[in-house]
Formats: sequence, C-alpha cells, structure tokens
Amino acid sequence: MMRPVKKAVFPVGGMGTRFLPATKALPKEMLPIVDKPLIQYAVEEARDAGIEEFIFVTGRGKSAIEDHFDFSHELNALLVENHKLDELESIAALLPPAGAISYTRQQEPLGLGHAVWCARHLVADEPFAVMLPDELFLSDTPCLKQLMDVYDDKGGCVFGLGEVSPEQTTRYGIVDPAEDDGRLVRIKGMVEKPKPADAPSNLSIIGRYILQPGVFNYLGRQKRTVGGEIQLTDSMAELLGQEPFHGIRYEGRRFDCGSKGGFLKANIASGLERAELRDELREFLKDPDRAS
Ligand code: G1P
Repeated sequence: MMRPVKKAVFPVGGMGTRFLPATKALPKEMLPIVDKPLIQYAVEEARDAGIEEFIFVTGRGKSAIEDHFDFSHELNALLVENHKLDELESIAALLPPAGAISYTRQQEPLGLGHAVWCARHLVADEPFAVMLPDELFLSDTPCLKQLMDVYDDKGGCVFGLGEVSPEQTTRYGIVDPAEDDGRLVRIKGMVEKPKPADAPSNLSIIGRYILQPGVFNYLGRQKRTVGGEIQLTDSMAELLGQEPFHGIRYEGRRFDCGSKGGFLKANIASGLERAELRDELREFLKDPDRAS
C-alpha cells in the first residue's frame, strides 16, 4: 500500500503582472472563469481527487483568497433573508471543513521550488500534491485524480505531461523518457526550460504533481538556476533514482490561464459547458461581429 496523498500545496504568491491592471488589487487566482475564481477550480479538483488538507503559499496582497474560503456571516444572513437559496448553496459548497486550509507566506519571489519549500513544515513527512492554479483542466476525470491512479499503482513521484512544439521547450520543464507506452512515461531525467536543441523530448511537465517529502532535502539547498530562481524541476531531478518517477499524458483539455489567450479560451470553453449559457455563447461565436 502506498502512503495516501492527503495534502496539496497551492503556490499562489505570484504577482500576476501579465494581467495588470486587473491584478493591481486583485490576486490573479481570483480572476473568474465564468463565475468561479480560478483558485476554486484547483481546490475542487484537489478535493475530487481525495485531498483533505489545502496548503496555500501566499504573498502580500493575497488576502482575498483567504476571505474567499472563509465563512461570511453577513453574506449568508443576507442570502437567507432574500431567499436566494441557489446562491447560498453555491457559497456553502466551496467551504472546506474548518481547519482544512492553512496559509503560509513566500516572503520573496524566488521561484516555484522556493514556494513549495515554504510549505515544508505544513507538509511534514508525507507525500503531497502540488497544484499550479493558473492551469485549468476540463476533463471527465479530474487531472489530479488521473495522477493519483498512477500513484496508487506505482508510488513515488508522478506528474502530468503535455506535448509541446520545439519552440515551446523554453517555457516548461522537459522530461527525458526511459519508457513510454503512449500514456504512461517512466522518467529518467528532466531539465527546466531547455533550448529546443537541448530538450530531451517534446514532453513538458504540467502544473500537477505528486511528490515525496524527500524533495525538501534538495529544495532546502536553495540552489538558483534558470532565471536566477530556485526550480522545482532541479530538486525533482536530484530525487530521481531514489523514487520511481512517472509522468502521465493527461486526458482532457488544459488551459494556461496565466496567458490572456488561455484565460479567454478557458472562459469560453467553461461557458459552453454550462447549460444556461451554451446557446447564447454558440450564437455569439458563430458571428461575433454582430453581437449586441
Ligand atoms: C513551472 C515549472 C515548469 C513547468 C511549468 C508548468 O514553470 O517550473 O517545470 O513545466 O510550471 O506550467 P513556470 O510556469 O512557473 O515558469
């Protein structure tokens, strides 16, 4: 039996400069996809994969995230008074049990590896998931659950993989596959943001990971590499050989909501999945110039 994965780390300290001015006073994780903030999609995905403890690595100006996952007496009372029961249900559904969420701060923006390392005391000596909330997945099986199914079989470390074109390798961690059955990939190496000529494959790491706590030993060395940052990929590469490492080509659609194009596409795709919006949106997409 593998040790169960019950904790997930959400690095949400980033400034979101790509979405200024929207993110001047609003955390980018609070930008809505239809009517739910991005962060809520990631939390729901984690919960649906069996996660019970949610660890947020935040930063300055991110308190709206804490308020979002808190109980609001005033709002509840108002909705009850006005008989807005659907709305009441929608905010009740997002509330994790008391004590299930914890927050710590990444005091300096030193990279993803550093953000994950900031959560080490909260994670302690357990396997854990890392969820990058900029990435939104629309799939029948939640993306993290797809990783969990591999973990239950193989243990060790598991992450999601996507295929990229050669010019995109400089944006991702790229893996070196040892075996590849078309869906599951056993990994023998990985490198952060390589030039196309140095990339060991076209398989990129996506923002869903299951990691073993041994990774903190390497993150703790605070080695800065690509972009002067402490990279998670470097510490995972150090852990290779001590743990089985697998990647899984996720099933479903992935939207990079850290880019404006990806964010807009995610809104359209999610809107099309809503019965109450589908027809209106389809009409619009057929002839966007005529929209009123
Ligand atoms: C991070 C990781 C990278 C991974 C990517 C997925 O990069 O460092 O290995 O491929 O997330 O989105 P970032 O997007 O923070 O530059």
